Amino acid sequence: MKIHPMWHEYPIVANELTQVLNLIEKNITTDNRPVADAILDLINAGGKLLRPAYCLLFSQFHETDRHKMVALAAAMETLHTATLIHDDIIDDSDLRRGQESLQAQFGKDTAVYAGDYLFVVCFKLLANYASDLRSVQQDGRHMEAILNGELDQMAARYNLDMTIKQYIKQVSGKTGHLFALSSLLGAYESGSSRLFAKNAETIGLNVGIAFQLLDDILDYSTTSERFGKPVQNDMREGVYSAPLILAMRQDPAVFAPYLSKKAAMTDTDTQAVASLVNEYHGVALARELAEGYTDKALKAINKLPNLPAQRALEDLTASLLNRQA
Ligand code: IPE
Ligand code: IPE
Ligand code: MG
Ligand code: MG
Repeated sequence: MKIHPMWHEYPIVANELTQVLNLIEKNITTDNRPVADAILDLINAGGKLLRPAYCLLFSQFHETDRHKMVALAAAMETLHTATLIHDDIIDDSDLRRGQESLQAQFGKDTAVYAGDYLFVVCFKLLANYASDLRSVQQDGRHMEAILNGELDQMAARYNLDMTIKQYIKQVSGKTGHLFALSSLLGAYESGSSRLFAKNAETIGLNVGIAFQLLDDILDYSTTSERFGKPVQNDMREGVYSAPLILAMRQDPAVFAPYLSKKAAMTDTDTQAVASLVNEYHGVALARELAEGYTDKALKAINKLPNLPAQRALEDLTASLLNRQA
């Protein structure tokens, strides 16, 4: 299994991330060969492995059982992959990691089962490797927050008055909480104090919010070829993200005629909205927000013990602001 090339710059986690992929592969044991192959194909498609990386880096402040930490990091990546498979069904998305999404390849039924299967693998890994039942409780709490983020997003669809505060609440849930959980588990299960683990959790949350902001910025500023997934599908689905919200609130009346067409928006309409977002500097404003959340995370990372893991967390967190995919 090959990890994303970005990790060559982080030898401190590269080897363990390869082990994460190998362990996930070992745990895909369903005898439904098409499902197993589809999952393995996705696992091998070059995902960035950020959640397991934060888990592993936060586990490097203490001596601990490395195999256990690799297994917990693998649990985080399986959870992430499960949510992506289900997300592509909900979002009707045909492209993931530069290849056909599972739901496009096999239809929604098989994709639901494949996602479910990965939730099972995640639970098995957690139950088999976590030393403290509190970690499993935390997992349940954060999974609920992820789901609530998605439910809030669904409930707010086509809401032209959606505020940036509502948006931040949604992305804290759907994306922030998995980064928070990964960071928390890494710290807590490696023997850090509860205070340190809580701190890791908050750092993860802020990293995750910044990460989703960047993702939504890229939705307006890159191509689907480079991004490996569709761009500008969100607005037709009624999912309004930061660049649009921050542009629209300056002059709602110019956006409304296009967006009020909802699912009937044509490509010309979505292009017109994208131009308006650009005209009103939606991307630049969203970027300022992303920088703010990154700064919060970096300030807290700066106060961690001065170890190689701390410097890697700092570099990685800062570099996520410059990602192109
Ligand atoms: C995609 O996450 C879903 C979001 C939270 C934006 P990633 O961009 O981390 O996905 P992969 O794993 O690298 O494909
Ligand atoms: C990502 O949702 C968050 C989860 C999968 C829970 P999105 O729909 O915003 O992400 P992409 O753009 O499909 O990766
Ligand atoms: Mg999606
Ligand atoms: Mg989605």
